[in-house]
Amino acid sequence: MSVSVATAPFDGQKPGTSGLRKRVVVFQQEHYTENFVQAIFTAMPAPGAQGATLVVGGDGRYYMRDVVQKIIRIGAANGIARFIVGQDGILSTPAASAIIRKHSADGGIILTASHNPGGPTADFGIKYNTRNGGPAPESVTDAIYAATLSIKEYRQVALSAPVDLATIGCQHFDGFDVEIVDCVSDYVELTKTIFDFDLIRRFREQTPDFSLLFDALNGVTGPYAHRIFVDELGFSESSLEQCTPLEDFGGCHPDPNLTYADKLVARVEREKVSLGAASDGDGDRNMVLSHDWFVTPSDSVAVIAHYAAECIPYFQRLGLRGLARSMPTSCAIDRVAAAKGLEIFEVPTGWKFFGNLMDAGRLSICGEESFGTGSDHIREKDGIWAVVAWLNIIAHVNQTQPGASVRSIMRDFFQTHGRNYFTRYDYEEVAADGAAQMIDDLRAKGPALVGQTINGYTITDVNDFEYTDPIDHSVSRNQGLRVIFDDSSRIIFRLSGTGSEGATVRIYIERYDPTLFDLDAQVALKPLVDAALQISELTKYTGRTEPTVIT
Ligand code: G6P
Ligand code: ZN
Repeated sequence: MSVSVATAPFDGQKPGTSGLRKRVVVFQQEHYTENFVQAIFTAMPAPGAQGATLVVGGDGRYYMRDVVQKIIRIGAANGIARFIVGQDGILSTPAASAIIRKHSADGGIILTASHNPGGPTADFGIKYNTRNGGPAPESVTDAIYAATLSIKEYRQVALSAPVDLATIGCQHFDGFDVEIVDCVSDYVELTKTIFDFDLIRRFREQTPDFSLLFDALNGVTGPYAHRIFVDELGFSESSLEQCTPLEDFGGCHPDPNLTYADKLVARVEREKVSLGAASDGDGDRNMVLSHDWFVTPSDSVAVIAHYAAECIPYFQRLGLRGLARSMPTSCAIDRVAAAKGLEIFEVPTGWKFFGNLMDAGRLSICGEESFGTGSDHIREKDGIWAVVAWLNIIAHVNQTQPGASVRSIMRDFFQTHGRNYFTRYDYEEVAADGAAQMIDDLRAKGPALVGQTINGYTITDVNDFEYTDPIDHSVSRNQGLRVIFDDSSRIIFRLSGTGSEGATVRIYIERYDPTLFDLDAQVALKPLVDAALQISELTKYTGRTEPTVIT
C-alpha cells in the first residue's frame, strides 16, 4: 500500500559534478532525503519509473543502509518493479555501472560521497546513473533539480519491517521484487574478460621480488581487491591494506593521493614496493606509484593507452577507437593519440562527459587528473581496473625486458613522447564569495594579461573552456579559466564541483618538455606556480598562503 507524505522544497538540492553531496546531518533532516529521492523518480528519463528495474548500492558509508530502505519504499510507490541491491547495500561505483549494464537495468542510485570523509559528522551523497550505466547527463540532473524545487509530496509504500539486505536472493513484495546480489561477482567476471589474468599470474610466480600493495583506504574496494588480487591473481593477503569497508573509513579521508594515502606511501617507500595502489571510498578513483616513482593520473592513462592494444585482451579484440581526457588533465595522452593516429577528445571535468562518446563507439580509454582512469567497459571510472591494467602492462613489458619497473616504463614512455610535467594545487573550504570573485576578476583581467611575460613565460591566450558535445550537441560553458603560454604551458583555474562546504579552488599547472625527464615536478613547475599565484592574487581573495593539498 502506498501513502503520500506532504512536504515542501529544500534549498540547494542541485546535484553537483557527481550527484548531491552534503553533510550527513543535512540528509538526516526530516523529508530531506525523501524529497531528493522522489525527485529522481519524478525526473527519471522516459519511459519513467513505472515497471523499471533499478540498481541500488553504495560505498558503505554511514547512513547508507537507511537510505537504501528509503529508496526501496519510495521507488516501489513510484512504480519500480525490480530493485537489484548489493548485499548489505554495498556496491562500488564501477560495480554498480557494470551491474546496470549487465542486467539491462533502467538506471541506478549510487549512495556515496566518493572520496569525501564519512561518518555522522561527515558527508553523504546520492547519485543517479542512467541506463547506459553512467552518471546522469545535465539534462537529467537539471530535471531532478527542477523537481526538488516544486515538490509538494512524496509517495512511499508501507512495509512492516525493513527489507533484509543481508541475504542473497530474490524477495517478493506486493507489486515489486528486491534481488540482493553478491556485490563482487559480476564485476570480477567482467574484469577477467578484460585483462590477461594468466599473464599476470605467471609474472607473479616467476618474479618473486615483485611486490604489490593495495590500500582500499577502508572504502568499498576491499572485497573486490581481495577477490581479484588474492583469490584470482594469487598475491598474498599482506598485499592488501585497509581492505575492510568501514562506515567512517576509519576516520581517514578516503582519497587516493599523496597526502591522504600517506600510510600507503610510507609503506611503499619503506618496503620498496614495486607497485603501490589505492582507491577511493566508492572505488572509482585510483593512484599508482612505486617506491621510486609517483605516476600522475595524467601519465597513468597515457601509459595505459600506449600499451593497451598491445597487451590488454579487451583492446586487442576491439582495437582502440579514440582517447579522451578532461580539460585540466595533462596533454600526455594527446601525444599517444597523435602517435597512434587516434581521435582525442578534451571534455569538461566530470566522467559523465565521456559517456556519449563511448556510447557512440568513438572512445575507448580516458582519464582525468583527479585520479580517474577507465574505459568503455563500463560508464564510470574504475580504480581496480587501472591497477590491474598496470599489472597487465608490467607483466607484458617484463616478457621482453626482464626487471622492467614502473619507473623504467615511465622513462621509456617519456623517451617516446616527451614529458608533460603536471601539478595541481587545491585550496579547500575557502569562502565561496571570495573564490567566485577571484575567478570573475581573472576573467575580466584576461584580455589585459595577453602578451605579458611572467617568470619567462609569455601569455598568448586567456579563455573560459566551453564544450559542445559532439554527439548530442549540448553546450557546457564556464568549465575552467585557462591561461595559455607561448610554449604550450597552461595554468587552469577552476572551482570544484564536489565539495560540500564553502568552495575549493583548484589550480592546474602543466608544462611540456621533450628532452628533460628527471626533474622534480615541483621544481620544473615552480615558475608557473608562482605565476599562477601572482596572476590570480589568490591570497588576497581567499586569505590562503598555502594549498591544502598538492598533487
Ligand atoms: C568526481 C567526478 C570526476 C571529476 C571530479 C572533479 O570525482 O566523478 O569525474 O573529475 O569529481 O571533482 P572536482 O572537485 O574537481 O569538481
Ligand atoms: Zn569516487
